[in-house]
Amino acid sequence: MPRFEERPHELFARINHSIAFDRRLAPYDMAQSRAHARALRALGVLSDEELARLDQGLERVADELDAGSFPFEEADEDIHMAIERRLTEIAGPVGGKLHTGRSRNDQVATDLAMYLRERCGVAVQLLADLMDVVLELAERHVDWPMPGYTHLQRAQPVYLGHHLLAYFWMFDRDARRFAVAREGAAVLPLGSGALAGVNWEIDRELVAGDLGFSAVAPNSVDAVSSRDSALDYLSAASVCAVHLSRLGGELVLWSSDEFGFCEPADDFSSGSSIMPQKKNPDAAELLRAKAPRIASGFSTLAGVLHGLPLAYSKDLQEDKEALFDAVDNLELSLEAARAMLAGTTFDRERLAEAAADEFPAATDIADLLVRKGMPFREAHGVVGGLVRQALESDRTLSQLTPEEIRRHSELLDDSYYQVLASGQWLESKVSAGGTASARVAVQLEAARAALARQRERSAT
Ligand code: ARG
Repeated sequence: MPRFEERPHELFARINHSIAFDRRLAPYDMAQSRAHARALRALGVLSDEELARLDQGLERVADELDAGSFPFEEADEDIHMAIERRLTEIAGPVGGKLHTGRSRNDQVATDLAMYLRERCGVAVQLLADLMDVVLELAERHVDWPMPGYTHLQRAQPVYLGHHLLAYFWMFDRDARRFAVAREGAAVLPLGSGALAGVNWEIDRELVAGDLGFSAVAPNSVDAVSSRDSALDYLSAASVCAVHLSRLGGELVLWSSDEFGFCEPADDFSSGSSIMPQKKNPDAAELLRAKAPRIASGFSTLAGVLHGLPLAYSKDLQEDKEALFDAVDNLELSLEAARAMLAGTTFDRERLAEAAADEFPAATDIADLLVRKGMPFREAHGVVGGLVRQALESDRTLSQLTPEEIRRHSELLDDSYYQVLASGQWLESKVSAGGTASARVAVQLEAARAALARQRERSAT
């Protein structure tokens, strides 16, 4: 109700101002302004003395921002204008010279690119830390049999180490996506002006070098219109969040009494307020639920950009909240996933018990018949008959007698019982990437090498 009493200019400020959320671009805006001032000095727009005055002023602004004493004002529309206003208050009219050859359009695109480069680097780093924990867990549980599932039905057993390594490779791909996004963000928009370039032959290469960009944007219209790097980040973040969500989902299932495969870390679970026996895997549940929120950032920005005519439109201001929310939640999720996993304990016996079931060996019996010359489809039918007979007589496959099995196929002999000997059907998965111990050992080796590469990537 009171909103109707607001004056038009107040309402306009409410919809138009971005200062409430773009403050986090301040450090990049400051660094950018320093580099731009140096370029203006090189052009002769600023004298040495003016440059020094601007630098001192910017330093004070930075101190105020750090200390939380920066005097924000009602009229500050966004962080770029707030900083320039304050700089002019501190340094005098020379503050007004800083915006020579620069528009807020290339300025905000540059801040955002710097921010994204940093956040992509952080994501790669956090992923490497998480991969480290996954790898360590996989090594520690390398030979623990567990049931593997399809359709959430017990299908074929695998080693827990093998199952955990599946997540390692998902996170490895995620890290690569963030590394690619970071490369895309390393192209400097500054010097593009409002959209057409600026009236000064500013040394953009110099500015790029100063600010750690690897190239300058080749087209000024594209440079101020594009939010591709934000889309790239959000796309990588969405896929990564989906991976984390599947990890969270499995841990929720596995920690239930029904599965009993693992126990969540105490620090990442809670008790029920009314049922003292319960331990709720809250962190895993929230990992599971963060994915749609993070992915919605991508669709929000894609929606803002789609059909938007070139070059800058104020619509582009709507890129930030979706991006920042995704960044905050992704980084939190990655850290929580790492710490939560590190404290998760697995129940070897429960896993082994659930994997001991003989029926997953059905494929191995079929393959035994194939080796003896029977076409696979036919063998599949024979094994179906064996399984049915065992189930109906409440026995396991190995409890069927030699006479009984021979009635299903002449080809079945002693080797049938050998195949069913415990563990055979894990060690029989010898194809590259399979769960046989020798293959998992090869995989662990490859994972260690991949992690070392990620570490290198995050260091550069
Ligand atoms: N706050 C604006 C944004 O976030 C900065 C650019 C404003 N440019 C302009 N021409 N009004 O996009």
